[in-house]
Amino acid sequence: MTRGPDQVCVRAPAKINLALCVGAVRDDGFHDLASVFQAVSLFEDVTATAADDVTVEIEGVGATSVPTDATNLAVRAATLLAERTGVDAGVRLHIRKRAPVSGGMAGGSADAAATLLACDTLWRTGLSRDGLRELASELGSDVPFALLGGTALGTGRGEQLTPALARGEYQWVLAIADAGLSTPHVYGEYDRLQTGRVRPEPRVPDAMMQALRSGDPEVLGRSLVNDLQPAACQLMPSLVQTLDVGSEYGALGGLVSGSGPTVAFLVRDNEAALDLCVALTASGTVGSVTRATGPVAGARVVEPVAHR
Ligand code: C5P
Repeated sequence: MTRGPDQVCVRAPAKINLALCVGAVRDDGFHDLASVFQAVSLFEDVTATAADDVTVEIEGVGATSVPTDATNLAVRAATLLAERTGVDAGVRLHIRKRAPVSGGMAGGSADAAATLLACDTLWRTGLSRDGLRELASELGSDVPFALLGGTALGTGRGEQLTPALARGEYQWVLAIADAGLSTPHVYGEYDRLQTGRVRPEPRVPDAMMQALRSGDPEVLGRSLVNDLQPAACQLMPSLVQTLDVGSEYGALGGLVSGSGPTVAFLVRDNEAALDLCVALTASGTVGSVTRATGPVAGARVVEPVAHR
């Protein structure tokens, strides 16, 4: 058998939910979803180096608030892959974070997806793409999408994916809050707000699918929808002001991404993006502002990235 590489680097994208339509709670405690994911150019880089044990070190945005023990999602991904494929090896993981932690952009899921692909390449497990996807969905609802990338429709608890017919490239301005929001907490608040209401089967509005096919950002901007937004705003009222800044300063549309608290604004062009970045920063309602484009590819092996 030929020896594998000693080090593999994988880059995986964060996501924005262009639509997040939430249905009833299932028997397993998850909510039925119909969602449109778009992978955006805010990347997590995971470098996997052959080692005896599984360890992780993290640098970049919010690094100090992420656990580095066995609960870390990347550590769990490496351990799960080794267990399922019978690999008797460890790995040293280095994560360069760019997506906000607990920000509703699936940064942790991107770390897990990147780790699965990096360790699979490092250890040469011979697992099929379907096998990797299966492990990804065990790790979390958003992990399969970080492997796939692009623009995709997600059903089930978000893990069943169909690539969407989508044209065009979109420019996003991302308003990142100082603190994060816990996903279970936001879903809990959503349930509380929905008490006593009948919840129909979730369905992405036709207008959204048409907007994606047309590639017209103006139409897409009007179609953005997130059923979790009222719950996120209830838990973090400053999000309402942040959303207002977008409407006032010419965003084509804006919404809380996933369970929040990151707010994603779709803008027409570079100039509009710069204007909105300035307005958001001046508003004092956000921790930081950054920009991204989408769609981008899912997790892929890249040349090793230099770090420390
Ligand atoms: O799958 P993931 O680990 O990302 O989910 C985190 C939490 O978000 C779940 O434990 C659950 O509380 C909530 N969730 C949900 N329905 C979904 C996805 C997530 O209730 N479809």
